Formats: sequence, C-alpha cells, structure tokens
Amino acid sequence: MKSVILPSYNRNIIRSMLGLKIEELDIPIPGDSDVIIKVHAAPVNPSDIAFLQGTYNVVKSLPAVPGFEGSGVVIDAGKNAINFIGRKVSCFVQDDRSGTWSDTIIANIEDIIPLKDEMDMDQAACFTVNPFTAYGMFEIALQYESKAIIQNAAGSQVASFLRKMALENGIEVIDIVRKQVSANKLVNEGAKHVLIETDVDFVEQLGNLSIKLGATVAYDAVGGSLSGLMFNALSTDSELVVYGGLSGKPIAEVDIMDLIFNNKIISGFNLMDWKAEIGQEEFVRISEELQDGFISGKYHTNIRGFSSLDDIVKGLRSYISDMSLGKLLIKP
Ligand SMILES: NC(=O)c1ccc[n+]([C@@H]2O[C@H](COP(=O)([O-])OP(=O)(O)OC[C@H]3O[C@@H](n4cnc5c(N)ncnc54)[C@H](OP(=O)(O)O)[C@@H]3O)[C@@H](O)[C@H]2O)c1
Repeated sequence: MKSVILPSYNRNIIRSMLGLKIEELDIPIPGDSDVIIKVHAAPVNPSDIAFLQGTYNVVKSLPAVPGFEGSGVVIDAGKNAINFIGRKVSCFVQDDRSGTWSDTIIANIEDIIPLKDEMDMDQAACFTVNPFTAYGMFEIALQYESKAIIQNAAGSQVASFLRKMALENGIEVIDIVRKQVSANKLVNEGAKHVLIETDVDFVEQLGNLSIKLGATVAYDAVGGSLSGLMFNALSTDSELVVYGGLSGKPIAEVDIMDLIFNNKIISGFNLMDWKAEIGQEEFVRISEELQDGFISGKYHTNIRGFSSLDDIVKGLRSYISDMSLGKLLIKP
C-alpha cells in the first residue's frame, strides 16, 4: 500500500511537512475484529497539523503514517468483522498501526461508522470528528437554554456546524474571527453578529453584544487572552467550553471574581470522552441523525480541494495558508 510517512516530529510545521515521504508498505493482516479499508479520501484537520509538530495528545512511534479520519470501502476483515466487507464506512483511527493518509488502512470495528448508501464519500471523509463535536458541544447550549452563544475561530468547520445548529434552534451566534476576509465571508453567508478579534474596540463590542443577546455559552478553539475575553463577556450562570488550542497559548485574562462569585464555569470538551459518556446506542442514533442531515443537504463540510498522496506537501501548504477556505481532502 502507498502511504505518507512522517519520519520525525518537528515543531516547525514547514520543516515537518518537508520531511514527509511516500513509501510502499505491506498491507497489514487484519486481527479478528479488524477491517482493511480501501481509502476514498482523508481530510487534513488542525489535529493533524499538531500531530506533525509532535504537539498533539496522540504521539505515534516513528516512522508513522499521519491522518486520523477518512472514508472508504471495507475490502477485507477478520473473522468477527466479515459482515463489513463491501460496506462504505467512515473511520477514526489513532492507533500506531495506521493513519488515513494512505491508500489502505487497518481499523478496529469500534473505530468505523458504517454509512448509509446515499452518503457522499467526500463528505463521509470528514464525518467522524467535526459534526459529532459540534453536536456534543451544542447539547451544552441546549442544557443552558441559551438565547445566544459566542464562538471563536468562527470560520472553521466545527463553528459552521454549530452556527447551523444554533440557527435551527433560534439561538443567536456571536462569531469571532481573526481576519477581515473571514468576517466578510461569514456575513455573506448570513451570519448576523461577526466580530474581528484585532479590532480596537473588540472587547467593548463583544461585551455589549453578549449582554444584549444574553449569551450563556462560549466555545473556545483558540486559547490565550481570547479565552478570558469571551469568558468575561458571558452573563452570570454561564460556561466557557474550551475545545481547541489553535493559538498554542495558555488561557489568560480570566476575571477571577467572575469565576468565584458568578457561577461561571470553564470546562473542556473532548469528542472521545463525550462518545464514551453517551454510550454506543445513543452514538448510533446521533450518527443516523447526522447522516440524514448530510444526505438531505442540511449539513455540509466545505471542501476547498483535493490532493494526491504525492502532492501532500503542496496540499498542506495551501491548507495552512488559509484554513477557513475548507478542508483539503487527500485522495490516494
Ligand atoms: N476537542 C475536540 O474533541 C475537537 C474535535 C474536533 C475539532 N476540534 C478543534 O476544533 C477546532 C476547529 O477545527 P476544524 O477542523 O473545524 O478547523 P478548520 O475547519 O480546519 O479551520 C481552522 C480554523 O481555525 C482558525 N485558526 C487557526 N489558527 C488560529 C488562531 N491562532 N487564532 C484564531 N483562529 C485560528 C482558522 O482561521 P484562519 O482562516 O484565520 O486561519 C480556521 O477558521 C480546532 O482547534 C480543532 O482542533 C476539537
């Protein structure tokens, strides 16, 4: 099988990318509960970038094949997984044996989601992570009966799913981006309250809007002082949900009095913990609901373009230069 190989981690993302190689590897032999998947496509996510840098919470033995999620068709299986042969699946693999930036992968049946026939396979490549993350995090806003939410990195795909879910539920969204071009794009798509974090009166605008709309939950994928500014802008009895650290900086600027006296919480969200918490039956129900949303066109991941395995470095460069343009799909 043809795979992308990461020989060594490097905090400098350009150096890490330039070190990537393409190699032919033996197709693994499936264990009893494993499937072998012919890969249709695999996206590049922020977690993959952090992985290449060696700063993600998953660190594989080197050399490693990068890529955590993807879509494809099961072409072989162990004795407990025979029924999956021929099925279209999405998968999420973080073990040492496999990465999805490859034309073939091995996955445990616990790491695959069998797909409905009508599911588009490009959309399916980005199905296992972001839609479920948004769904799980949105439940927090529903629990708070929020009238409004705040989110940063609002040009991201997770933020786009959250915006859609909020709109459906009549919840206002305060979107924060770091570039004017991203703000323009969101406004053109119909977003009503878009703020740019570098504007001189950003803190004032955020505070005023949050009070006016009654925001009780804020979703933070960035960290640094923006976390504190979002937290401080929330009303009493509210929650800052931290789910990413795109700035690479620790949380700062949190108003400690607010934290102690105003029943305001800072929490972390991790998809895998949420998945374990809800249990398999509920996960399958949500998967069906989300798949129906993709099939009907209600949900959609923006795809900026495609890259072959051989063109991986060019593709990665284009993704990191403007992440809000959508996902790059690697197609073997
Ligand atoms: N906790 C979990 O379980 C979980 C699960 C899934 C995803 N996530 C996290 O969710 C976040 C979004 O993922 P995604 O796949 O939706 O992303 P994506 O579509 O690939 O887009 C990334 C976004 O992040 C923005 N961004 C990057 N660096 C930034 C910074 N330093 N400050 C502000 N904005 C920045 C980009 O804006 P520009 O266009 O301005 O670069 C872009 O809008 C990531 O942090 C990811 O790790 C967490």
